[in-house]
Amino acid sequence: MCGIIGYSGHRPAVPLLVEGLHRLEYRGYDSSGVAFEQAGKLQVVKAAGKLSALESKLASNAFHLATAGIGHTRWATHGLPVERNAHPHLSQDGKLAIIHNGIIENFQEIKDELLAKGHTFLSDTDTEVLAHLIGEEREHSPNLREAFARALRRAHGAYAVVLLSPEEPGIIYAARMAAPLLMGVGVGECFVASDIPAFLPYTREVVFLEDGELARIEGSKWEVFSLADLSPVEKTVNHVPWDMQAAAKDGYKHFMLKEIMEQPRVVTDCLSGRLVGQGDSLRVQLGELDAFPVPSRLHIVACGTSYNAGLWGRELLENIGGIPTDLDIASEFRYRDPILRPDEAVMVISQSGETADTLAALRLAKEKGCKVIGLCNVVGSSIAREADVVVYTQAGPEISVASTKAMCSQMTLIALMAAYYGQRRTDAFDPSASVKMLNALAALPAQLAAVLPTMQERAAQLALRFASSRSFFYLGRGQCHALALEGALKLKELSYIHAEGYASGEMKHGPIALIDPQFPTLALALDDALFPKVKSNIQEVLARQGRVIALVQEKDGVAPELGVEEQWVLPEAHPVAASFLALPALQLFSYCVADYLGKDVDQPRNLAKSVTVE
Ligand code: M6R
Repeated sequence: MCGIIGYSGHRPAVPLLVEGLHRLEYRGYDSSGVAFEQAGKLQVVKAAGKLSALESKLASNAFHLATAGIGHTRWATHGLPVERNAHPHLSQDGKLAIIHNGIIENFQEIKDELLAKGHTFLSDTDTEVLAHLIGEEREHSPNLREAFARALRRAHGAYAVVLLSPEEPGIIYAARMAAPLLMGVGVGECFVASDIPAFLPYTREVVFLEDGELARIEGSKWEVFSLADLSPVEKTVNHVPWDMQAAAKDGYKHFMLKEIMEQPRVVTDCLSGRLVGQGDSLRVQLGELDAFPVPSRLHIVACGTSYNAGLWGRELLENIGGIPTDLDIASEFRYRDPILRPDEAVMVISQSGETADTLAALRLAKEKGCKVIGLCNVVGSSIAREADVVVYTQAGPEISVASTKAMCSQMTLIALMAAYYGQRRTDAFDPSASVKMLNALAALPAQLAAVLPTMQERAAQLALRFASSRSFFYLGRGQCHALALEGALKLKELSYIHAEGYASGEMKHGPIALIDPQFPTLALALDDALFPKVKSNIQEVLARQGRVIALVQEKDGVAPELGVEEQWVLPEAHPVAASFLALPALQLFSYCVADYLGKDVDQPRNLAKSVTVE
């Protein structure tokens, strides 16, 4: 959940570390710090709060000689977000410093043991305990590498750790277990980081470290060893085609807005190379899945927005794909001993490919002998590497903590998968519904691009009117139920306004008691088979003096008249395409409310982009 970076090379290390931390800030931003070597001694500078606080401190430090160092941006797991808990942390003798992402589960046991030996701790973190353990092991090990490995073999839990010590000037050590860590190999220099953008301006040559591996990095020289016995491990260097342009704001006020506006391009990229033919003969090709048997049942497992995408797609996978599909939240699935049969498949959905619970669900499914499909955005992420087959969503880097374009890409790919499985069905499959949907998807990028600018204006008007609300309902049925959950999630995570997403039909079973003029409702009343039912549910809210914004669609050029306070009219579209039009409306509404309220849109409080701890 934290961002880590290490550097060894020929350039001044500290500015590089800070620059890398800026690109990793989405992973955590409650405190930060760097360690580097100066005149044979470790220097550690850290600060609570945003990275700018660290930069101010560094401005008064002379660090120009250091060409190796480590840096960290934190999202608190153990201990308050204060300076003493910020990384790097030192060993008892102060001779080595580490940064860490993850949780050492048995830290208390190790801490008690070290306390009994006279160690004193300056922070509340599990990381400091690990630093002390490495220092302790150093006293009984022939070298630093051995001490690092011995300490890590005792640590249970998840970690990506980078170590620096003046004992071996210019050298950094790194190791990983269940937390992301990769190396960037440049000319005469090498980086190690939690994510590729950290070093992207300097190199696109990447080595993915696996669980249980330890790396020794010294400028252009790097070696990887097995943590178990320190035997050498052969690694390949991969070329990553991303550029920094793809990770910059493109003139938008926030990454979130840029990412919402990118959705027409995202749909185009998702469809590219995957649709063949045209008109009535339009078909899907998903070569990734060809060698994979059609599962007798699909279990979708995911968290947050990715879960909502799965919920949205279930109906299509069943009705068009013909595959019985069920759905689980990853943190529940992994602990409930699910019944999985070998002819079934689990599909894990994750933008980052690093979400700890989703990764654990994937491993559980594999343990139970079930094949796993990974629907992932980040190439080379843990889920992408461990799944039996990966379907990449190709949304490009998503920087804003609130997920937007990733959901659009996940929905596109699930719709394609539904059509693909439909095509592979051996029973009497009527392709007409599938072909209509594919044609609607093919037309979607242009349709989306046309509506987004006016949609943003309408969202801003509504935001102004409703931003003072303390609570919100989001209602929808069928696929709009998933969108209602997503709309509520976006509003609460960005603006901290309490919001509940509900299946409209469930309102009468309790939640309707909450309705009053201070508790507005955003109702998804799109032009689908369930519209008459939603219309009745809206009347029930109105009858209790509830304020309603209804997201509706034109039909034959006319919008329905629902008698609500605000109608937000979307153009006529195929029901599947309509979801893709409603999604950015919900995202933009939340964005505009949060921006109007002056919230930190790209980095909402208490959240991290990639949740790599359970
Ligand atoms: O990277 P993942 O798709 O696995 O992430 C899952 C959730 O953590 C993520 O969607 C989260 O809910 C976002 N904050 C939603 O905007």
